[in-house]
Amino acid sequence: MQHYQVGILGGGPGGYVCALRAAQLGLSVVLVEGERLGGTCLNKGCIPTKTLVKSAELWREIKHAEEFGINLGDRGIHYPQIAARKNQVINTLVSGIEQLMKAKKITVLKGWGEVREAHRIEVTTETEKIELHVENLVLATGSFPARIPVPGVDLPGVVTSEEILEQENLPDSLVIIGGGVIGLEFASIYHEFGVKVSVVEMLPSLLPNIDEEIPKRLTPLLKRSGLEILTKASVREINSKEDGLVVTVEDGKGLKELPAQQVLLATGRRPNLRGIHTDALGLELDRGAIKVNSQMQTSVPKVYALGDVVGGAMLAHVASMQGMVAAEHIAGHQASMEGRTIPSAIFTYPEIATVGETEQALKASGKPYKVSKFPFSANGKALALGEIMGLVKLLADEDGIVLGASIMGPQASSLIQECVLAVEKKIKAEDLAKIIHAHPTLPEAIMEAAHGIVEKPLHLA
Ligand code: NAI
Repeated sequence: MQHYQVGILGGGPGGYVCALRAAQLGLSVVLVEGERLGGTCLNKGCIPTKTLVKSAELWREIKHAEEFGINLGDRGIHYPQIAARKNQVINTLVSGIEQLMKAKKITVLKGWGEVREAHRIEVTTETEKIELHVENLVLATGSFPARIPVPGVDLPGVVTSEEILEQENLPDSLVIIGGGVIGLEFASIYHEFGVKVSVVEMLPSLLPNIDEEIPKRLTPLLKRSGLEILTKASVREINSKEDGLVVTVEDGKGLKELPAQQVLLATGRRPNLRGIHTDALGLELDRGAIKVNSQMQTSVPKVYALGDVVGGAMLAHVASMQGMVAAEHIAGHQASMEGRTIPSAIFTYPEIATVGETEQALKASGKPYKVSKFPFSANGKALALGEIMGLVKLLADEDGIVLGASIMGPQASSLIQECVLAVEKKIKAEDLAKIIHAHPTLPEAIMEAAHGIVEKPLHLA
């Protein structure tokens, strides 16, 4: 039996980062992965969708080229080429991780692992069964798309985000069930490519988990661009017809039939416990997720869990930080997830990014707070880019300490990091406003919003 100090089940951004950090700290590591390294993020999620976002963005710019004084002749998109580029980017990143694993002398076993006890992993590879003895076990098995219990959900043409990414061609029309992060990212991408898109969300608002002002501003923009959005709408059934599918929806005003060539299920993800014998191990669960403390320890000594399988914020960057924390804790260092500030970025058009408190949560808490908003329409760089939709919204406590930020607009996903720093380090808006921001840049909108917490933004009447 092979022996390792750390045995990791799952090679996504949680598992492989844990492996890298553990190896860096001098521990012997084995990583068991049934598919390709990189997990959902790299192979079926964040990275492939971002290559599609880039194609959609480029296509949008080409469509508007004349506004910028550029005349182009015949124009069109060729989806198989877009899909091929996506696969190329994935392959480059996967082979990069493989090389890192080799360089750090991490043993990678391609196979499915099963765990029944804390110190043993049984791995079934294509050719053999291998037993591993591990001093510390790390469960990083990720999640899978949830399927709603609706008649017709198993019909051909009803796909998950993972399946739709495998496709080489675009449908003519798409009904997306779920107006959360995945649903809206695909809605933005496919709409830009010319697919007729409808989004069905059961709650009164899209993106229900973020500052309410953002979906309130985003929804009319999406509708104006030609997307069909139904909120407070529940799906009754999906039926097939000669040339596709039809989704029957009840939206408070009666039944509505939405015909579509394909239906995308984007109604959340569930922790993946495949291969983990939770009862035999004695693992405590919480609503289907493995229960952990802030050192990523489970209820069983020397068994850690991290990433989507522990529930909470199912985000790649959270999983990676949890992987580092677990590795460091195993190596005997002080490490904890407690008090970490978690940003989130949503790659819709326009982009959205958030961190910290929302206004509705502050209102509900009854604590006094300050709010300031600065629109991108008053930012020179945004105007030059032709991207004036959206705003920076900052929230601060009575003393001006930044508590949260929501950004909708160009490069929101990069801009948010200045606000993450402010929230994590409890920086005052006054200090943020005093920092010289390069001109002309988008971060100036954050500086102006910070001025608005103290007094008023300078470039706003
Ligand atoms: P989600 O929880 O963000 O959204 C699911 C949406 O579906 C919710 O708005 C919910 O109300 C709605 N819904 C549920 N059942 C429904 C039904 N029967 N009919 C109509 N609507 C229904 O989950 P999503 O978008 O599937 O994403 C899964 C996970 O992946 C999330 O944790 C998300 O944060 C993460 N993710 C993050 C990304 C990012 O940070 N850019 C990108 C993609 C995924």
